[in-house]
Amino acid sequence: MTEEQLAVARAHVDWHMERYGYDKANVTFRHGVIEDLASMGIADASVDVCVSNCVLNLSPDKAQVLREIFRVLKPGGELYFSDVFCDRRLPGTLREDQEVLGECLGGALYIGRSFSASLHALPLPCLLMKPNPSLITSPPPPSL
Ligand SMILES: C[S@@+](CC[C@H](N)C(=O)[O-])C[C@H]1O[C@@H](n2cnc3c(N)ncnc32)[C@H](O)[C@@H]1O
Repeated sequence: MTEEQLAVARAHVDWHMERYGYDKANVTFRHGVIEDLASMGIADASVDVCVSNCVLNLSPDKAQVLREIFRVLKPGGELYFSDVFCDRRLPGTLREDQEVLGECLGGALYIGRSFSASLHALPLPCLLMKPNPSLITSPPPPSL
């Protein structure tokens, strides 16, 4: 994430307040990385809902991101992934290709044992998972 991205987001706050009828902004933007939510001042058990819309799959350290998410979620909190998953292990050539990584494909989460094992490895009293997959069937770009 960059300061330039945040500047774009902040520049559109007033438009959204007016569009949705808010007198006061109901969002704040914090600069940081999802592997270290503490450095953005996000306290333990302080968050109701976490959403990853294609950010988790860009992280090189997904286990750390999951630890941070479950640190900040309140008991009973919810986590939604709108990320790219794959049902087979990707070859190293794709996982290391900078362009494919940037398109959220190279870092796609493997939905098999490794993903559920990393969730179950977290020290949680209880975890309820409900998959709701959308399958993309378009052919890969010619360069692949
Ligand atoms: C595919 S975009 C999705 C952006 C946004 N969720 C959306 O729906 O428009 C991925 C975003 O994640 C940010 N990003 C990538 N790695 C990150 C990290 N480790 N921590 C925080 N943000 C990251 C990038 O800067 C980029 O803005």
